[in-house]
Order: sequence, then C-alpha cells, then structure tokens
Amino acid sequence: MKIMIMGAGALGSLIGGLLHLSGFEVILVGRPPHISEIERRGLKISGKMNVTLKIPTSLTPVESDLTILTVKSYDTRSAAKALREFDSPVLSLQNGIGNEETLMEELGGERVIGGVTSYGALRVEPGHVKYTGEGEIVIGEMNGKITERIMMISEIFTRAKMNVRISEDIKMEIWKKAIVNCGINPLTAIAGVKNGVLLEISSLRKLLREVCEEAKRIAEALGITFDEDPVERTFEVAKRTSENFSSMLQDVLNGRRTEIDAINGEIVRTAHSIGAQAPINEALYRLVKVLEGENGRT
Ligand code: PAF
Repeated sequence: MKIMIMGAGALGSLIGGLLHLSGFEVILVGRPPHISEIERRGLKISGKMNVTLKIPTSLTPVESDLTILTVKSYDTRSAAKALREFDSPVLSLQNGIGNEETLMEELGGERVIGGVTSYGALRVEPGHVKYTGEGEIVIGEMNGKITERIMMISEIFTRAKMNVRISEDIKMEIWKKAIVNCGINPLTAIAGVKNGVLLEISSLRKLLREVCEEAKRIAEALGITFDEDPVERTFEVAKRTSENFSSMLQDVLNGRRTEIDAINGEIVRTAHSIGAQAPINEALYRLVKVLEGENGRT
C-alpha cells in the first residue's frame, strides 16, 4: 500500500510521519524548502514525539494507492488538476467548505473521499514539524455509504495508532469543523491572541458565540442537521487548544495567504446563495483580507 501525502506542510508531514512509523510506504509531496530539507536530512518531528524519519519525497505527484490531500484550500483546484492523470482515491483532510466539491468537479465523484482532522501540527523550520496535539480523523464517503475502501482507510489510521472515525454524514462533519474555524481562526488572527484568550476577554467571547451562531443558522438553512451543538463545540475546542496559535494567526504572522476564503468567505457565499445574509462572518472575512494586505488600496 503506497500512500501519497499531497501538500506535505506541517499537518501532512505529521500524518505521513505517523503512517511511515507504522510501516506504510509513504511519499511526501510538497514544496521546497520544507521538502528539500526532508530529502536531505529526513523529517524531524518534535513535541509529542522526538524522531527523525527518512521518508521519500517528490515535488510532483506520483502513482499511489491512496492520496491524502492536505494542501491549503486555495490550492485544491491546482492539486486536483495535477492528480487527474492518476486514478487512486483522494482523501481530503483540509480546512474549509467546498474542497470536496472542487475535487469532484476535477476528478469525478468516485475518487473523492471527505474528511476532517483535529490533529495539531506546527512548522518549526524547513524539515521540522512539531506535533502539538493528538486529535481525531473523521472520514466518510460523500454519499454516506460504508464502503470497503472507507473501512480499509480507517484500518490504515488505526494501524498507525491514530484516532479515526467513519461518518455517514461527512458533509455535516465538514460544516461542524468549519464553524469551529469560522470563529476561532479570524478572531485569533485579528486580535493576535492564542485560542484560549477568546474565552477570557468578554467582547471576544461574545463575538465568538455570535459568529458561530450565524454560521450554524446558515448550515441549518442549507439542510444540515448537527449531531451536537457546533457553537458549544467551538467553545470546547478553544478551551482544549487554549495554548495554540491558530493556523490563521500563524499564516498572518508569517505573511502567508490565509484560508479565510474557504471558511468565512464560503459561509458568506452560501448565505447569499440561499438569499440570506451573514454580516458577522462577512465583517471578519473583510478584516482578515485587510490583514492579508488586500485592503482595497489601488
Ligand atoms: O486551524 C486551526 O488552528 C485549528 O483547526 C483549530 C482547531 C482552530 C485549533 O487551533
């Protein structure tokens, strides 16, 4: 079983490393300087474990039995185009709404498997990632069926001692994660604070609740039925990850593009598509765009 991690940044490298440690044949596909450092000196994982792993790398996709896609949401379409010449199943473990739909447009419905993860990883320096938190991987067929391949993928993560769950409603799981992200990510990025601070400052706590409630209303209007309250879950995640710098804050601090389009941006677009408004999500979206440098200056 050859597993390709397409988009081996912090999270992809961690997942690839854990699979490699359990004996799977893994190839990490990504960009220099991270990928070239792994090629030269191996992948260093610190934090919850301390290992350096010799894992094959590539700058372009290769033939594999399973592709795990961990590219940033704004790179989903180009990654999908690059995967067109192969025929392995593609499991998306990305942030935001709409990745699976983009993949299905480019690759056809059959190849695409939905997923979300709450495993935590940070890029320390090229070739070195920090394993910051054990989480969960939730996977599911887009049509909700429990297929042989979904059982097989679940078995792969179980063998790698990772927490995995199969969902018969992966769309709901993707929205649940997006609601967590639509609150914690922009607010931490705008205020420049760790996740836990959102619970300590009353105005941030109030905004966190309001932006998530608004996103929940849009999801429900779209026909999503949640198996738990995504707003309460957001508060739990903020508490559990109180010491984390969210991925969006890290992107802003490092001058990188954020995933705001696929998170709050997608919630606003969805709202408009059903004739509704999402003003709080829209305000946070615009503020993060300012932080990204797209502040309308001409
Ligand atoms: O994007 C992130 O940073 C994470 O998904 C989360 C859960 C908000 C924790 O920092």
